[in-house]
Order: sequence, then structure tokens, then C-alpha cells
Amino acid sequence: MEKQEIRTFGRRHGKKLSARQTWLTQNAIPHPTDVPATGAILEIGFGAGEHVRELALANPDKIIIGAEPFMNGVASLMSAITDEKTNEILPEYKNIRIWPDDVRDFLRGTDAKFAQIWILHPDPWPKARHEKRRLLQTEFIKLLSNYLEPHGEIIIGTDHWGYFDWILERATESGQSFETPELDIIQTRYQAKNMADTDAPKYIIIKK
Ligand SMILES: C[S@@+](CC[C@H](N)C(=O)[O-])C[C@H]1O[C@@H](n2cnc3c(N)ncnc32)[C@H](O)[C@@H]1O
Repeated sequence: MEKQEIRTFGRRHGKKLSARQTWLTQNAIPHPTDVPATGAILEIGFGAGEHVRELALANPDKIIIGAEPFMNGVASLMSAITDEKTNEILPEYKNIRIWPDDVRDFLRGTDAKFAQIWILHPDPWPKARHEKRRLLQTEFIKLLSNYLEPHGEIIIGTDHWGYFDWILERATESGQSFETPELDIIQTRYQAKNMADTDAPKYIIIKK
């Protein structure tokens, strides 16, 4: 029997969706059925999707794929990228695709090589007994780097400095080269909560 994968996310459902959000999540999700072999951008665990929208606006010629198993987050992104009256995807967001589930299932079904893979504020799972739930294990970093095109990048940001140091250790173990620059990007909903009570997020960029 295949070993079951450890679950890296918390809830899949939160408060009840509005009628419009329910309709959108059931009928209008732009599924990633047309991912190009190279050049697309993937964001893992997009939360409410603020940064996916930024990516879509900043890269109108690229396909942006967001993966998120928390359906309320998917619903928030769907509400924000669709016309309130027609429920059509707004023209400026036509390059967004959504995988409403665990990214590992999406990756198993694609051969695409990405220009960028973003992971902003991965769940820190702060209790020692939950560390195994952290997404950025050494093996996962190795797996993701196999999905990068030449010169592609994995960009990770976290305001949990303990998790940051832990990720640096895993990145070193993975044998990939990386740097830790300062980045000026939009504040996501999770970052705004500043649960870790730190001054700012720290970033690591793993390079192909
Ligand atoms: C702490 S939240 C941060 C959300 C968002 N990036 C932000 O900054 O507001 C982490 C998100 O990662 C998602 N996540 C965890 N494991 C995942 C996986 N295997 N595939 C896709 N998303 C995942 C969770 O559902 C959660 O929404």
C-alpha cells in the first residue's frame, strides 16, 4: 500500500460561502488545463489570492497558477477576479488558473517547468510535534527544483524567523543554491496578521 502523504494544511472549509461564492467555486474555476511546457508561474498556498492577482497583472503574457486547498481562500480569489454582475473572469485576470487542492496532486499531473514558484507565508506549524507538517521539507525543495526551467526561481517568504532558519537548513541539505535578499512585495492577508510578531518577512530565493 502507498504511504499516505502528511497533510501540510489546516482546514479545507471555513465560514459558509455566500451564494455567489458557492456558484463561482462550483462553476467558474479556471482549471489549469492549458499550462505551457515552460514560462508559467506557480503560487503555492495563495490564501485569499492577493499575490496571485499581483502576479497576473504584472505578467499579462504568462499563465499564473495558484494552488490552495482552503475553499474560502479559493472563493475570495474567485470573487475578486470575476465581474459581480456577469460572474465572468475580468479581462485583466484571464491569465489566472486555479488548482483548488493540494499542490502535490497538481505537480504529479504536470511536466511543466516553471519560471517562478512562489510560497508566501507557508504554515509555520510552530509546535515541535507538528514540524513534519511543514511544507518545505528537504525532499519537497528537491522536488520543486525539478519543476523549474533553467534560471527559474523558488521564492519563499515567511515572517516566522524560526521557520526561516529551518528552511535555510533544508535548502542547504537539498543541495540547491540560494540567496536571501530583501524583497518589497505586497502584504498578504496572513502577513498582515503578523502572528509571529516579527518586524518583517524574510525571503529566500532558490535558483536553478
Ligand atoms: C499561512 S497560509 C498563507 C496564505 C497566503 N500565502 C498569505 O500569505 O496570506 C498558508 C496557506 O498554504 C496552504 N497550503 C498548505 N499546504 C498546502 C499544499 N500542500 N498545497 C497547497 N496549499 C497549501 C494553506 O491552505 C494556507 O492557506
